[in-house]
Amino acid sequence: MPEIDRIWQLLPDNQAYRLESTSRSRPVPAAGQVLVRVHAVSLNYRDLINLRNTAGRNVAGRIPASDGAGEIVAIGPGVTGWSLGDRVCGCFFQSWEAGPFDTRYHQQDLGGTIDGMLAEHVLLSSQGMVRIPDPLSYQEAATLPCAGVTAWQALYSRGNIAAGETVLALGTGGVSIFALQLASAAGARVIITSSHDEKLARARELGAWQTINYRTHPDWEKEVSRMTGKRGVDHVIEVGGPGTLEKSLMSVAAGGQIALIGVLTGFGAPQCSLFPLVAKNARLDGIYVGSRTHFEQLNTCLTHAQICPIIDRAFPFDEAPAAYEYLASGAHFGKVVITI
Ligand SMILES: NC(=O)c1ccc[n+]([C@@H]2O[C@H](COP(=O)([O-])OP(=O)(O)OC[C@H]3O[C@@H](n4cnc5c(N)ncnc54)[C@H](OP(=O)(O)O)[C@@H]3O)[C@@H](O)[C@H]2O)c1
Repeated sequence: MPEIDRIWQLLPDNQAYRLESTSRSRPVPAAGQVLVRVHAVSLNYRDLINLRNTAGRNVAGRIPASDGAGEIVAIGPGVTGWSLGDRVCGCFFQSWEAGPFDTRYHQQDLGGTIDGMLAEHVLLSSQGMVRIPDPLSYQEAATLPCAGVTAWQALYSRGNIAAGETVLALGTGGVSIFALQLASAAGARVIITSSHDEKLARARELGAWQTINYRTHPDWEKEVSRMTGKRGVDHVIEVGGPGTLEKSLMSVAAGGQIALIGVLTGFGAPQCSLFPLVAKNARLDGIYVGSRTHFEQLNTCLTHAQICPIIDRAFPFDEAPAAYEYLASGAHFGKVVITI
């Protein structure tokens, strides 16, 4: 008799999806695959996008969540380099190992086109995993595959961040808190925004150089200008999208970089001129998570800089819908985790 595992699935519900708790036979790894017992999963804003169907993506029947950490419990034929018991994280794109992005990698994104991590056991490609750094717990490691790798690619791989530079991170969600930690490790000075003063106080404890409440300072780009002596910042972690891009364009320094990452204000067209990019010789970099190599580089940095991912709250597996609701509330600082 095959073993039975508990899983969460996205099922169609009106024009969106709902989470359904169900079960399935434990999968068996095929050639090139391993079976991972999942210990922890973290949620990303992307999981809300899929649940709410705001990107119009067909995820019916899909096991959600790109981000999880666990241990290898079975190994398929032909797999080398991995052993039973190895602690691993799945890569967001199962087939993007290194080099530049190719759109075919998008056919292998966990919790999107293929089943994700919100299950007791999952199959992963043996090429689509990284080892968890020794100091990190499963919960901490589960925060890395999307938010951590995205912040890494934006700042280090595409941004070539250097000591003494300035970074502006918008809000205190998963990507922005990783950006704060990673940029600080590079010796950069970070300005971070939030709608909550208490979160800004926590960000200062984590090393933020300056903070701005974007609710009490809706013209936060003027604060950025003041804080940087009118120069602007070298890097913007742009997670807001159309509703914040204009202010990010005003905030970026001459020769600087805007890492275009998020859609917290929606998927619409920005209502602003892109001319500031020309006038400032600045650039707009579209960032889509990263490769396995980016993930390995991130792990090396986390180990050397002794960075610990910030987990706001962990929910038990059975309470996954409550974890989604908590993320949707925006009350969190850093990451929301589900333990299995
Ligand atoms: N391109 C990629 O590869 C990639 C990867 C990861 C994430 N993303 C995108 O990046 C965005 C952030 O993702 P996440 O998982 O880090 O989200 P998250 O953890 O859910 O962060 C949400 C936080 O963002 C802040 N926020 C919300 N609206 C804001 C606004 N208008 N201006 C400034 N801050 C705002 C709030 O922080 P306060 O409570 O402090 O105000 C909120 O708590 C999402 O749009 C996500 O889809 C893209």
